[in-house]
Amino acid sequence: MIKVPDFNALYGANPDPWAVSSSFYEQRKLDLVLGVLARPRYAHAWDPACGTGHGAERLADRAEQVLATDAAATAVEITRRTCAGRLNVTVEQRSLPSPVRAGETFDLMVLGEFLYYLVDVDRSATYDLLHAAAAPTAEVVAVHWAAPPPRRLVERSRGASRVGLSSHRPRLAPRGRAGGAELHHAHPAAGSR
Ligand SMILES: C[S@@+](CC[C@H](N)C(=O)[O-])C[C@H]1O[C@@H](n2cnc3c(N)ncnc32)[C@H](O)[C@@H]1O
Repeated sequence: MIKVPDFNALYGANPDPWAVSSSFYEQRKLDLVLGVLARPRYAHAWDPACGTGHGAERLADRAEQVLATDAAATAVEITRRTCAGRLNVTVEQRSLPSPVRAGETFDLMVLGEFLYYLVDVDRSATYDLLHAAAAPTAEVVAVHWAAPPPRRLVERSRGASRVGLSSHRPRLAPRGRAGGAELHHAHPAAGSR
């Protein structure tokens, strides 16, 4: 079981606790996320646990509009600063699995390093709302830190695999047109997050 930090306190003490803005490891991970996207452009991308906003900032180059949300108020403030020059990025405080707005749909959703923090019932409800918010052509990228075995197996079953995107019948592809990718990483220096 992953310990869930107090994210508000964490970002209050350090505005970039995982060094997303500076570490080669994190920058490369973002490069990989962008690298697996199947299309050059998207209409509406959602980064629902945006953290420091560096992922949303990069997505702004690939999408007409980007919605960056996070449960932590401090993360929302930091993301507003990170994305200040990006007029196509909207930043809001939202906690999953709170429902999306009526009519809100996304053709790209990037789930970065947070599914494993959710308790089972919230994770399941989050999958449902992601399905509901997915445009027919939606792509989803899920990024997960994988603990060393044996915990890795647990995290995979709780996080990535149940997103359903690595199966031949992805849950987010009711019409068989959506796509997705999952990135697992286990760099010892990355630690638990
Ligand atoms: C490890 S950080 C990852 C941030 C960013 N996606 C990245 O990959 O660098 C996890 C983030 O998930 C957010 N988070 C945790 N539970 C959440 C929830 N239920 N709804 C929305 N955001 C949540 C935290 O506030 C935190 O910013």
